Amino acid sequence: MKIASLGAGRMAAALVRGLVDAGVARGADVRVADPVPAARERLAAELGVQACADNAAAVTGADVVLLCVKPGDVPAALASAGGALNGTLLISIVAGLSLARLTALAPGARIVRAMPNTPAQVGAGATAYAGGDTASAEDLALAGRILGAVGLAFATPEKSLDAVTGLSGSGPAYVFLVIEALSDGGVAAGLPRPLATQLAVQTVLGAARLAAESGEHPALLREAVTSPGGTTAAALGVLESSAVRAAFIDAVAAAAERSRELGQ
Ligand SMILES: NC(=O)c1ccc[n+]([C@@H]2O[C@H](COP(=O)([O-])OP(=O)(O)OC[C@H]3O[C@@H](n4cnc5c(N)ncnc54)[C@H](OP(=O)(O)O)[C@@H]3O)[C@@H](O)[C@H]2O)c1
Repeated sequence: MKIASLGAGRMAAALVRGLVDAGVARGADVRVADPVPAARERLAAELGVQACADNAAAVTGADVVLLCVKPGDVPAALASAGGALNGTLLISIVAGLSLARLTALAPGARIVRAMPNTPAQVGAGATAYAGGDTASAEDLALAGRILGAVGLAFATPEKSLDAVTGLSGSGPAYVFLVIEALSDGGVAAGLPRPLATQLAVQTVLGAARLAAESGEHPALLREAVTSPGGTTAAALGVLESSAVRAAFIDAVAAAAERSRELGQ
C-alpha cells in the first residue's frame, strides 16, 4: 500500500511514525510533501520515507493520501495535488472541514474525515472518523487501521464529530489544566514543584490506565477509593460543591458548539 501525506507537521509526523512503527506501511512506501524542507527531511531521515517538495509528485500512484495541513492551507494543497488525487482514499484530519467541502475540493477522491487528538504523538491518540458517500466499507476499515496506528480509532457518523472535538479533540487541554491544578495543590500543601508535577502526571496516567484496563465504570473506581469520613471523601465534597463536574460538562458542550460554528 502506497501512502502520501500532504503536510509533514506535528500530526503528520505522528501518523506516519505510527504507521511505520506498527508495520501498517513500509517507510519506502510512504511519501511526505511539505514546503518546509526541514519538516519533510526530518521524517525521511527518521523513518526512511520519501520526502517530496511537490504535492502532485507525492500523490501520484498513492492508494491513500493523508491531508495534514492547517485549514487555511487546504485549498492550495489539494489544488496542487490536482488530478493525482482521483481514485485515492483521502483521509483528512483537518479540524472543522466537512465531508461536503472536502468532496467539492477533491471530487475524484473517496473521502474519510477524521478528528484525532495530540496524544497521537505518543501513540495514545483518540480519533473518530466518518466516511463520505463514496467511501466503501473497505475504505472505512482501512482508515480505521491507519488511524488506529496512533491510538484508538472509532467510526462515527459525521454529525458526531463536533461532539468528538469537544470531548477528545480539545480534551487533552482540559487534562493538562487538571495536571497543573493538581500540581499547584501539591505545592500549596507543601511539596516541591518538580515532585508535585511528577505526582500529578503519574496520577492522571495511572488513573486513566486503571479505568481503561479494568473496564470498570469510573463511578465504581471512584467509590473504591472513597472511604467513609476519609481524605478522598473530603476532597470530592469540595470538587462537587465547586461544581467541577458541571464545569466539565459545560466545557465539552462549549467546545462542541464552537466547533459547529467554525465548521459553518
Ligand atoms: N484534534 C486535534 O487535536 C488536532 C491536533 C492537531 C492538528 N489537528 C489538525 O491537523 C492538521 C495539521 O495540524 P498540525 O498541528 O500537524 O499542523 P502543523 O504542524 O502546522 O503542520 C502542517 C504542515 O503542513 C505544511 N503545509 C502548508 N501548506 C502546505 C501545502 N500546500 N502542501 C503541503 N504541506 C503544506 C505546513 O508548512 P508551513 O509551516 O510552511 O505552513 C506545515 O509544515 C490541522 O488541520 C489541524 O486542524 C487536529
